[in-house]
Amino acid sequence: MEKNAITSVIVLDSSGQVLTQSRSLPPSQNVYLRPLPEFNDAPSELVESDWRNKPYLVSKSPVTIQGKTVATVIMFTPSEPIRTAIESLQRILIGVTITSSVASAVLIFIIAKRITRPLVNMKNAVRLLSQNKYNFSLATDGKDEIAELSRSLMDFSHELKHYRLERQDFLAEISHELRTPITYIREYANILRAGAIQDEEEKEKFLDYIFDASNRLYHLSDDLFELVQLDQTNYRIQKESVNLIALIQQAVDEFKLGFAEAEITLQWNPPKKRTINGFIDPVRISQVLVNLLENAKKYTPAGGHVEIKVSELPYAIEVTVSDTGIGIPEENIHQIWQRFYRVEKSRSRAHGGAGLGLSICKRIVELHDGSIRVQSRPGRGSIFTVLLPRP
Ligand SMILES: Nc1ncnc2c1ncn2[C@@H]1O[C@H](COP(=O)(O)OP(=O)(O)O)[C@@H](O)[C@H]1O
Ligand SMILES: [Mg+2]
Repeated sequence: MEKNAITSVIVLDSSGQVLTQSRSLPPSQNVYLRPLPEFNDAPSELVESDWRNKPYLVSKSPVTIQGKTVATVIMFTPSEPIRTAIESLQRILIGVTITSSVASAVLIFIIAKRITRPLVNMKNAVRLLSQNKYNFSLATDGKDEIAELSRSLMDFSHELKHYRLERQDFLAEISHELRTPITYIREYANILRAGAIQDEEEKEKFLDYIFDASNRLYHLSDDLFELVQLDQTNYRIQKESVNLIALIQQAVDEFKLGFAEAEITLQWNPPKKRTINGFIDPVRISQVLVNLLENAKKYTPAGGHVEIKVSELPYAIEVTVSDTGIGIPEENIHQIWQRFYRVEKSRSRAHGGAGLGLSICKRIVELHDGSIRVQSRPGRGSIFTVLLPRP
């Protein structure tokens, strides 16, 4: 300190005379040039500590010889450097405060952008969904949970949209299917009721129309009930070990009469081996057999031939229903599994079909992890093949 000559030292004797002075001071500082009392134990003291307002910090220390104060050392340290140091410290502090505030603001902004905004967007999306609106998109890139959630929500909205559209179609199709038979019943019943028809034969014809239409409604409601059941996500098939030969025998017995009436031969040669066990839901698989036999009967003209067979392949049990009927045109063949699809609407309808049978079959077979396919030649016949996994 002395070297930088910033501190001035003055030594006073006991009477207050200046003995020595390291450098001159402004006259204003003379007020401090008073000696310490002579008695012993005179303490060192800081006589001026107000660094903010006074130009010097002043301290006094006694020089004691044998318990007596013989001189006083007064040190004047300029307060300017302290002020400068403290001011710059303050400036640094303010700087740090501002920087950290800005930094946290930026951080908060980033966090808000990354977390809050996507959440708000999702909240809005859910609101739109509840209003049946699907025209939104969420940012789904990223690996964090938020992005994951966005992706799930987008998937969900696509599914919901698909489901709603499908349901709309389904309802439209059903109403369409219902309208024709109901109109028939209404109109013909009305004509009969009005008593306008006297001819008994004519009357009977009208009653037949009414019967046919109500029959169609009966089958439709049956099929619809089936389809709705199969569509339920919690729908379970009840699998058990079942002899397919016996199951087919049952179906054949049921149909014997109907085929005879339609003048179609129904051929069934059970395999020599008396059992072919499958792990299946017997009620459901019976339904598939009935649907296929019904179709074969429906779409085969009198004099035709239908055959049902079952055999064991290395990895599956195969059931085929083949007929010598009208067949299915190449261009329609992939559509027959769709619900309400009929190749020839009028023809099929005349038989009471709503085009649901094969879609029900497909659903049931798939619930068994099996498959169903068809080969057909128009005018020659069709072969429906069901493959079921071996137990
Ligand atoms: N054995 C078959 N021979 C010819 N066409 C068939 C046969 N089975 C099904 N089809 C065609 O596939 C359509 C769909 O069959 P399906 O779903 O059972 O409905 P539906 O029998 O009620 O008309 C039928 O309308 C018919 O056009
Ligand atoms: Mg059918």
